[in-house]
Amino acid sequence: MLHFIVFFLFIVIFNNVYFVVGWDPSNFTFNPGQDYELVFQDDFENVGPVKAFINGKPAYAPNPKNWAPIVGMHIDGGLQNFTNSIFNAYVQDGKFTLVALKEGLTSGMYASKNLQEFTFGIWAAKIQLPYGKGIWPAWWLLGNADKYKLKWPTCGENDILEMVGGNNVSVNLTDQYAHGTVHWNNQSNTMKPVFNKQIHQQWKTPDDSMLHNHSLVYWTEWTPEQITIGVNEFIYSRINTTNLPESINPVWAFSGKWPFYMIINIGIGGEWPGPPDNTTVWPQLMVTDWIRVYQKKTE
Ligand SMILES: *[C@@H]1O[C@H](CO)[C@@H](O)[C@H](O)[C@H]1NC(C)=O
Ligand SMILES: *[C@@H]1O[C@H](CO)[C@@H](O)[C@H](O)[C@H]1NC(C)=O
Ligand SMILES: *[C@@H]1O[C@H](CO)[C@@H](O)[C@H](O)[C@H]1NC(C)=O
Ligand SMILES: *[C@@H]1O[C@H](CO)[C@@H](O)[C@H](O)[C@H]1NC(C)=O
Ligand SMILES: *[C@@H]1O[C@H](CO)[C@@H](O)[C@H](O)[C@H]1NC(C)=O
Ligand SMILES: *[C@@H]1O[C@H](CO)[C@@H](O)[C@H](O)[C@H]1NC(C)=O
Ligand SMILES: *[C@@H]1O[C@H](CO)[C@@H](O)[C@H](O)[C@H]1NC(C)=O
Ligand SMILES: *[C@@H]1O[C@H](CO)[C@@H](O)[C@H](O)[C@H]1NC(C)=O
Repeated sequence: MLHFIVFFLFIVIFNNVYFVVGWDPSNFTFNPGQDYELVFQDDFENVGPVKAFINGKPAYAPNPKNWAPIVGMHIDGGLQNFTNSIFNAYVQDGKFTLVALKEGLTSGMYASKNLQEFTFGIWAAKIQLPYGKGIWPAWWLLGNADKYKLKWPTCGENDILEMVGGNNVSVNLTDQYAHGTVHWNNQSNTMKPVFNKQIHQQWKTPDDSMLHNHSLVYWTEWTPEQITIGVNEFIYSRINTTNLPESINPVWAFSGKWPFYMIINIGIGGEWPGPPDNTTVWPQLMVTDWIRVYQKKTE
């Protein structure tokens, strides 16, 4: 169970319109509860040599013990060029900043594959997101099933947070919505056949502000039976992974046979958000205060 410091939302009913007044996430404290202990944290302290001066201050690469860049064009179908440039990803003032730049549509994607991987637990990151048309930030987990030679989607994927920036209100692809999605292969433990199944849920800020306007904790809890996804004190997705629809159960991806690693990135363009346009403000920053993983105490 997750226990949170209680926050009060004052719901005012006025002419059949619900206004949520007083949503102030600025003092939210994430508390995973007594059953859990911290097993990983990155508070983005300065490690290694100064790589550049950004905004007049020294900038450092993210800790190579935890993170490695994923470099290349059009990964995940986006228009962006993910680089290992310090100008697309740097640590400064205790924060990890990813930068999407208009020039060359360069951006950053960092993963903890073979560095920091865990089986079951709670993953949480406090992030201030970028915003705008064509901007597609993500904080997600991918199963590392290399030892069984299994790839996506059989390895399993937990998209804790995706935001599909812009203003396509008809499909909730706006700066107000966080999307959480879990993917698996319904044939469970094989690369042949592969059927990508997914469950997608979404969450909107209570006061209709942009996610970008707050630094929020985007988290997931993965247990042998359930995956839960939430933002701060709100839970917006909970699935039973032993009983997935149209699938051979239990689905291997979520049964703990292999660990999951973390990925954080800003995509640009691609099928879901569409390309940036002349409303997109550049550069766009994704600023992470900390990333933590907790696991159940063992005694
Ligand atoms: C948030 O915390 C700060 C510093 O502790 C305090 O000054 C402020 O009043 C708090 N705000 C709310 C809404 O509780
Ligand atoms: C991607 O960015 C890197 C680093 O700036 C650059 O060297 C490379 O040429 C770019 N690739 C393309 C296809 O633009
Ligand atoms: C909104 O998204 C839908 C589904 O992706 C797409 O068909 C439509 O063209 C989009 N509308 C705008 C204005 O981008
Ligand atoms: C958009 O989100 C609302 C909840 O905020 C939900 O009721 C609605 O079904 C969603 N629409 C689409 C197209 O997903
Ligand atoms: C939200 O962020 C935008 C862009 O940074 C800013 O212009 C706007 O003032 C912010 N709104 C609030 C309520 O903080
Ligand atoms: C998940 O589904 C299984 C099989 O239907 C059921 O026995 C179990 O109680 C469910 N677990 C939770 C946490 O709902
Ligand atoms: C997996 O999905 C495919 C395509 O939707 C379907 O034909 C197949 O029956 C599903 N497998 C199971 C075990 O339900
Ligand atoms: C932005 O693009 C739209 C349509 O592509 C165009 O009508 C509009 O004039 C452009 N605005 C600016 C400020 O360039």
